[in-house]
Amino acid sequence: MEIVILETAEQVARRASDMVCRQLARKPDSVLGLATGSTPVALYAELIRRHHHGEVSFRAATTFNLDEYVDLPPTHPQSYRHFMDHVLFHHVDIDPSRTHVPRGDAPNPVQEGPAYEALIAAAGGIDLQILGIGTDGHVGFNEPTSSLASRTRIKTLTRQTVEDNSRFFSPEEEQPLLAITMGIATILEARRIVLMATGVNKAGAVAAAVEGPLSAMCPASCLQLHPKATVILDRPSASALRQTDYYDWVLRQQDEIARRHGDPR
Ligand code: GLP
Repeated sequence: MEIVILETAEQVARRASDMVCRQLARKPDSVLGLATGSTPVALYAELIRRHHHGEVSFRAATTFNLDEYVDLPPTHPQSYRHFMDHVLFHHVDIDPSRTHVPRGDAPNPVQEGPAYEALIAAAGGIDLQILGIGTDGHVGFNEPTSSLASRTRIKTLTRQTVEDNSRFFSPEEEQPLLAITMGIATILEARRIVLMATGVNKAGAVAAAVEGPLSAMCPASCLQLHPKATVILDRPSASALRQTDYYDWVLRQQDEIARRHGDPR
């Protein structure tokens, strides 16, 4: 696992954006796995900015989002489809028919999981998966105790996640308690994974994911199994890690090599 600790959330967004742009430059028809939540909003804003400067195009790209609330139609302002349209898709040159978010309002939500998996497989699999992390260590909506072998399916949210995400819902709105999410095995099939975290409220989850045991109790620890996973953190979200000196040292070496010989990443 590559651990990149930067000083600010803006730097985290720029670094993640560099990785997305490099991926699209290498392979314009890349399949990107995308995440919702507050953390990647700065990444999407940076990608939009670079797109407007002609630095990146999504014309040939395909996207798959991690998850969606069960029962929310795509038009619902709190749906992740609506969120993605507004924070990214409507502002770049992506073909809307190649943007995928699980259908929370599918007539049979149980069948939506295998159908979504089939769409990902038909697109050739995910080249680069962006992840955030929940305060309980979830990725997508794979809550603690999710099977490390799980595939796209319906999950019941923990009370903590419902509470964390309640800020997006007005008090009179009914907040969904179920979500459809890519599974951990689905996520691990991505060829490259980038997990972003910012803010001190993520410090415990980040430490458990990076330095804790591989455990279904911290679903993000599944990244320890992935050969090409990068964790990009700001200083506050990295504050509970024990090996920061080592991560900083490795990063300095890698940046120096990239400066001298070009970035092989
Ligand atoms: C939601 C999403 C996750 C996301 C998490 C953290 O629960 N399903 O994919 O990583 O929130 O969100 P935030 O970045 O807002 O802290």
